[in-house]
Amino acid sequence: MAINYADKIPNNVDLAENKQLQRALEHWQPKYLDWWREMGPESSVNHDVYLRTAVSVDAKGWAEFGYVKMPDYRWGIFLTPPEKDRLVPFGSHKGEHAWNEVPGEYRSTLRRIIVTQGDTEPASVEQQRLLGQICPSLYDLRNLYQVNVEEGRHLWAMVYLLHAYFGRDGREEGEALLERRSGDADKPRILGAFNEKTPDWLSFFMFTFLTDRDGKYQLAALAESGFDPLARSTRFMLTEEAHHLFVGETGIGRILQRTAEVMNEQKTDDPEKLRRCGVIDIPTIQKYLNFHFSVTLDLYGSEVSSNASNFFQMGLKGRFEEEKLKDDHRLSDAEYPILEPVGERLVEKHHPALLALNERLRDDYIKDCQGGVDRWNKTLEKMGVKTKLTLPHKAFHRKIGVFAESHISPDGKVLSEADWTRHSSDWVPTKADHEHVQSVMKREVEPGKYASYIAPPARGINNQPHGFEYVKFH
Ligand SMILES: [Fe+2]
Ligand SMILES: [Fe+2]
Repeated sequence: MAINYADKIPNNVDLAENKQLQRALEHWQPKYLDWWREMGPESSVNHDVYLRTAVSVDAKGWAEFGYVKMPDYRWGIFLTPPEKDRLVPFGSHKGEHAWNEVPGEYRSTLRRIIVTQGDTEPASVEQQRLLGQICPSLYDLRNLYQVNVEEGRHLWAMVYLLHAYFGRDGREEGEALLERRSGDADKPRILGAFNEKTPDWLSFFMFTFLTDRDGKYQLAALAESGFDPLARSTRFMLTEEAHHLFVGETGIGRILQRTAEVMNEQKTDDPEKLRRCGVIDIPTIQKYLNFHFSVTLDLYGSEVSSNASNFFQMGLKGRFEEEKLKDDHRLSDAEYPILEPVGERLVEKHHPALLALNERLRDDYIKDCQGGVDRWNKTLEKMGVKTKLTLPHKAFHRKIGVFAESHISPDGKVLSEADWTRHSSDWVPTKADHEHVQSVMKREVEPGKYASYIAPPARGINNQPHGFEYVKFH
């Protein structure tokens, strides 16, 4: 399963054995590079960036670190090794041999699932395109580029599946993935959160903490798929994804640490005074968390979903850690509770578990987010700061699903529209909040230096020393 870097397209799928597929992907490759030049990180050409590149799919030691000249990053196709005699782990085909070809009757459904996942990958690169110009340090700039090149590779992972298993339709989808643009009114990306702006590094860290984590849960559900090439593709993507979540969690942690330091120095929690010191006050960080969390929750779709039920019954998309769950993996009689607004209250109702799979995945995701928030609060507590961050209620500020028509406060109270309007500026970032955050986004590219609003990381990438030159400009 070694990765062959001598090939034009590095891969561990024996691409050279399938000339037609190889040709099709080599035809797509320059179009991908055109897209990267147009929509990838602005002004990154020719920088030497200290990046990790996948060199094998072995869980211990799969990556190599070294300087890469930016557009020369070797994007490739890497699948985890096939598991011998793998069986479909859930749904109506549970116990049958996993498929190495697309089952004819599921073809269009599976294609849609792969395209929807694939679309998020270039979308996030587009959203993050300008952030390099206001990077808080070389360390952070390098992390941004690492995330960007890997999202590009995730697009490769999905385009490989489309080309290899969906013929001409798949090739057309591969082209369309390079044509949509995040936030474009005429040809937007498929999912809402991927059309939002990521204009500053607080948003970027919230995005990588929250929205990349949605990616983790979607990929984990696809990693259970009965369609084995999809399972093997997404398993390797998950290995890379862990770093993106790390960037988000430690990024917010470092912003909080810096704010807490200044709160202690100045003996104040007055947002205005803190803002004048060039840091981001905790209430503003809380509002960004509220916004990004609610927008990301919408990515899981409607609470009650016959699509999700079909995906599961077909054996295409499982639950989080499906194989570790102790039940029949068919969910024929199981139920799952769903919260919904009834008049002035939120009421839990039981639904067939098969129809509630989106909600279940969302709940798994929320638990994972809470873990990160608890770690941030520990940082604050250690520094003697009493304020805590909280995840808003899952019904807060939702645009999709049962809460879409309601107005719900961060602590889960049903509000009138007038009450919502009166308070919303306390809960989601205002124009003034955005302006303050933007005002502290000063570019810092001297090795070992950090912008005013963020503390240095506890450790360097690949244990590099403080002051390491992660990016060399030319
Ligand atoms: Fe990704
Ligand atoms: Fe990611």
